[in-house]
Amino acid sequence: MSTQTVHRTPSIGITTTAPRDIATEFLVLPVFEDDVIPEEADVDAASGGEVGGARARGEFKGGAYELFTPAVRGWTAARVALVGLGLRKDFSTDRLRRAAATGALVARQRRLQRMAIVYPRSVQAPAADAAQVLAEGAILGNFDGASYKTTDPPRVWLDQVQVRVDGNGAAVELGLERGRVLGECTNLARELSNEPGNALTPHVFADRAAGIAREAGLSVDVLDEGRIAELRMGLLLAVARGSQEPPRVVVLQHGPADAAKAPVLGLVGKGVTFDSGGISIKPSENMDKMKDDMSGGAAVLMAMVAMSRLRVPIRCIGVIPMTENMPGGRALKPGDVLVSAEGKTVEVLNTDAEGRLALGDACWYARRLGVTHLVDVATLTGACVVALGKTTTGLFGTPETWVEMVRRAGERAGDRSWPMPVFDDYKELFKSEIADFANTGGRAGGAITGALFVKEFTGDLPWVHLDIAGTAWAEEATPYQPKGATGVGVRTLVELALGVDGWATL
Ligand code: BES
Ligand code: MN
Ligand code: ZN
Repeated sequence: MSTQTVHRTPSIGITTTAPRDIATEFLVLPVFEDDVIPEEADVDAASGGEVGGARARGEFKGGAYELFTPAVRGWTAARVALVGLGLRKDFSTDRLRRAAATGALVARQRRLQRMAIVYPRSVQAPAADAAQVLAEGAILGNFDGASYKTTDPPRVWLDQVQVRVDGNGAAVELGLERGRVLGECTNLARELSNEPGNALTPHVFADRAAGIAREAGLSVDVLDEGRIAELRMGLLLAVARGSQEPPRVVVLQHGPADAAKAPVLGLVGKGVTFDSGGISIKPSENMDKMKDDMSGGAAVLMAMVAMSRLRVPIRCIGVIPMTENMPGGRALKPGDVLVSAEGKTVEVLNTDAEGRLALGDACWYARRLGVTHLVDVATLTGACVVALGKTTTGLFGTPETWVEMVRRAGERAGDRSWPMPVFDDYKELFKSEIADFANTGGRAGGAITGALFVKEFTGDLPWVHLDIAGTAWAEEATPYQPKGATGVGVRTLVELALGVDGWATL
């Protein structure tokens, strides 16, 4: 654990007070680039025309996450900050989420602890959704990367956030609660992903996951190396063999007593706590980043914690295989042939394609436990980063209706993904001479062959694979997010489960 805490949840409440009367240290007002909302006109008047002047001079345009802090007289708040939302035609609720995160990060930089954020009245979205994304954003801004520096000054955390929406009542409170839980759970996933590989080994990850999950009311089963061997998970065991650290599989179950027997959502997350590549070792440059190779596992864990806390009315089973990928003396070697728990055989052509091996056995186990729909989340391939870059998750799967449901959930969550093909033709690429298939298919279509390998273990259930190799880690800080782990996937999975009504069309 780092020398400082890395996030804290402030108290968050709804206010219906007019912006000018909100008592806070930092009042955040999201504004559009191309149109002046009523609240902005009020600030402009209270600032003696400073806002309009800055707009006219081009000092402040209102571009996405741009900041302007005019001197305002006669308002109760100590300071007022305008945060740009960009053009109205480009609006999405994610802009608001990020504007709230921007406001929170700036407040903390200024060592302020009380913030309020105003939902622009001219935006047409249900007040409950507005409350949710603003709360989420404010909490996401109440996060910092891990620090092991012994000389850092103590961090400042927001301790009070007020969300200004038109309307109160049960629906808005529910939105707020969703935002609170999703923000908190995303932050915890980020904390886990930022942990160095020596601090978060497979058994430490399993212990922490079990503790967090039990506290949230999930039922937890941690498979140690003995149980994994009994289950003959030959693919996972082979990956773990190169390391001194034994593997674990964490199995989580959420099942409200009154939930229907089906559907049962199955979530599988890659939990490689460090990926050196194994005998097919990676170049040293950027190898340190491979401590985040358990981000899919963290996303599954924290999504299930959120589902439990929000009492999502659906059954869900999470399976997280945890291992290191190391080049020890007993390590898996290129050319080795493995037998999976399912019985299919795999020829290993590259030991760095370890994630799909761990996922293969984990998907089989999820099926054995009775899941009806599968989603796996994994930092699976560099090829996906080449294809889609660092801000869009690769979306694979079948049937299309299921894939589209996950895509929409991701969009609501502010985790964008984009569909990639899983045509059978690509299976040619990972044929093996001596086994059922090989674990790699070469450079061409690398993200797709990775996905199709996992598909071999899904038993034709509706299945989606989210390749988060690019999106799990932000190389650069943005106004709304410090550098490092992003917590991608957590909110997508919860939104998917919350949207279960739509599953009937499957
Ligand atoms: N964990 C990596 C994928 C990765 C790469 C994540 C870059 C984040 C950033 C994965 O285990 C891996 O090494 N994949 C190989 C597969 C190849 C050997 C077929 C890759 O992408 O190079
Ligand atoms: Mn690898
Ligand atoms: Zn990996």
